[in-house]
Amino acid sequence: MNNNIPSTPGKFKMDKPPYIHRFRWHYSSLAKLTFWSVVFLGLIVVFFFKSPSTSPPSPNSDLSRRSLKTTSWGGPAWEKRVRSSARIRSPNGLSVLVTGAAGFVGTHVAAALKRRGDGVLGLDNFNDYYDPSLKRARQALLERSGVYIVEGDINDVALLNKLFEVNPFTHVMHLAAQAGVRYAMENPNSYVHSNIAGFVTLLEICKNANPQPAVIWASSSSVYGLNTKVPFSEKDRTDQPASLYAATKKAGEEIAHTYNHIYGLSLTGLRFFTVYGPWGRPDMAYFFFTRDILKGRSIPIFEAANHGTVARDFTYIDDIVKGCLGALDTAEKSTGSGGKKKGDAQLRVFNLGNTSPVPVSELVSILERLLKVKAKRKVMKLPRNGDVPFTHANISFARREFGYKPTTDLQTGLKKFVRWYVGYYGSGKKGDH
Ligand SMILES: *[C@@H]1O[C@H](CO)[C@@H](O)[C@H](O)[C@H]1NC(C)=O
Repeated sequence: MNNNIPSTPGKFKMDKPPYIHRFRWHYSSLAKLTFWSVVFLGLIVVFFFKSPSTSPPSPNSDLSRRSLKTTSWGGPAWEKRVRSSARIRSPNGLSVLVTGAAGFVGTHVAAALKRRGDGVLGLDNFNDYYDPSLKRARQALLERSGVYIVEGDINDVALLNKLFEVNPFTHVMHLAAQAGVRYAMENPNSYVHSNIAGFVTLLEICKNANPQPAVIWASSSSVYGLNTKVPFSEKDRTDQPASLYAATKKAGEEIAHTYNHIYGLSLTGLRFFTVYGPWGRPDMAYFFFTRDILKGRSIPIFEAANHGTVARDFTYIDDIVKGCLGALDTAEKSTGSGGKKKGDAQLRVFNLGNTSPVPVSELVSILERLLKVKAKRKVMKLPRNGDVPFTHANISFARREFGYKPTTDLQTGLKKFVRWYVGYYGSGKKGDH
């Protein structure tokens, strides 16, 4: 755009006037200057208003605002940092790229891997779907334990290629995603961008890598959609998603099948059931219920049709982390190399839940006891915008494959969450988040 603006718009010959005519010269020059200034400003205005019409109308402006933020990466110092973070420090350790490392589950998984001596490199785009300062605080936490989070997007092919060039990751723990069920009506393209396009980009890099890493990634219990048969088993149908979020996760499972089939990538999908705990996501009910109860605001309690109970199989973060590590440790090697399949590779999908659904009203009662504040409950009908009334995981497959056994009940887990919440935000009377 700047190229279209004359670089010297005020270029005009300024006659050197005789000293005696200085006053008049001053006036005429001023008139000329004003004239050219108006022309110049006019040009700017014309270009400013014209330029948007030269690009297609942008329904994705919100999307582009939140993605592919160009941050600087590369250079010897940066590569050294990447290598150091990804360096394996225990015998038989793994070298894991954790995407979404500044996210709730990502932070906990990255920290756990680091603790046991695996090499861990994080990747996160720090988008503002929810308060990025919480992501920065998690980043600082990981930084202290020696995990570096590269700031970048999973859609950035050059960056991903560079990461694999600098370090040959044995595993990718892919937890980056656009989460949330209701936000999909506000910004549907962000789900396609992260959960489908981003996933494909990442899998392309993984299938080209030599050696190919094994990929463990976050699907979702929401793929069970409108199913009514409980508990949900991995073999149940998953073709009736109730939200675009669920549909993109289901698409991810099919895309995983394709990359496993064509390229021999080892792929494990994890269907998380309502994960909660310290450093959790502020868009989740247990989190904003805590905030709003402390602030004396009313909280919406949804009920299903005919005053039916809405219940969730709440799963504590430490149990989820154990499940993630179990899946990682039992992942077999990918069989392909250089983009070519050499043999059949592992393809798995696991429920990671708690097998103990709790009504949302009971969640609120526990929070009231822990916070010692009475909640202002506003009972409402569950809107038909993506939430399902009931989730309940059958976890026998994960138990059989890697001994997955959740041990934290909701009361115990919420106690730990509330302790963290009050420590992090205070008792909630001041400030907003
Ligand atoms: C749970 O799933 C397993 C298969 O993984 C199945 O054998 C078992 O019957 C299921 N349990 C229930 C209670 O549905």
